[in-house]
Amino acid sequence: MQHLVDTNDFNDSQLIQIMNDAKAFKTKMPSKILEDKLLITLFFESSTRTRSSFEVAAKRLGASVVHLDPSKSSTNKGESLEDTFENLAAMEPDGVIIRHEFNNTPKKLANKALTPIINAGAGNNAHPTQALLDCFTMMEHFGVDKPEELKGKKLAIVGDIVSSRVASSGIRLFTRLGLDVILVAPKPFMPNNDLPQYEDLNDVIEKVDVIMSLRAQLERHKAPIFEDYNEYANKYCINKERMGNREILLLHPGPVMRNIDISDEMLEDKRSKVLEQVKNGVFVRMAILKLILDN
Ligand code: CP
Repeated sequence: MQHLVDTNDFNDSQLIQIMNDAKAFKTKMPSKILEDKLLITLFFESSTRTRSSFEVAAKRLGASVVHLDPSKSSTNKGESLEDTFENLAAMEPDGVIIRHEFNNTPKKLANKALTPIINAGAGNNAHPTQALLDCFTMMEHFGVDKPEELKGKKLAIVGDIVSSRVASSGIRLFTRLGLDVILVAPKPFMPNNDLPQYEDLNDVIEKVDVIMSLRAQLERHKAPIFEDYNEYANKYCINKERMGNREILLLHPGPVMRNIDISDEMLEDKRSKVLEQVKNGVFVRMAILKLILDN
């Protein structure tokens, strides 16, 4: 049974297949190849992009989608997550798409082998479909046909990296593909790993091809780190002054905190591909659903 708990569930040829299919879907909408399939979405945390993107992707391919709102489910009556999941699996869907606050929830449910699990974001550990759509957006920008052709590109991840499941999945996928990943953050936002780490974006901006800005998730930190968001923005907001005329691809997974993560002006700049990432997310998720459900 094929799951997507993190991107390492896909081998290299599956990664290529996803990128090829997403590119083909973006060029021409496919036929309803998943017409007889049914997915259940189960989001225990808020989502604008991922949930609607999965739903659009599934419907574009003809699949049906049932959404269970956990706030109105029997988890409120004390039912455990495992029991909720087993009851949903008993209805024989073709897959369950789950977002949850705990890092290990998707893996735990996948281990039951009742139905394919697709991780739509878990804790600060993994958000594999975001990493894959970011990979696709970079490939499109650099005009390459295979993920491994991104090898050697320099990517700076900027912001609250330690809290970010986007960064966690991205770092695993992008280092696997051979990108040079550089982390830029104040110390409390920096994870403990072997990647090059900088506190000042000015120290790396001359040498990067891509900046991935992340939301400052001040609410996730127990002790206050900055007096306010403006103090953070003074050092880390991606604005025109910092970017200059450099040809740097600017990414952000959303939600963007305007003028804290990225300035209004830079969001309008052609180097910013934030909405293109969202558009690409549908095609990449279509390709993922095809791979997992249409076998
Ligand atoms: N990028 C992302 O995961 O956005 P949502 O939280 O809105 O799904």
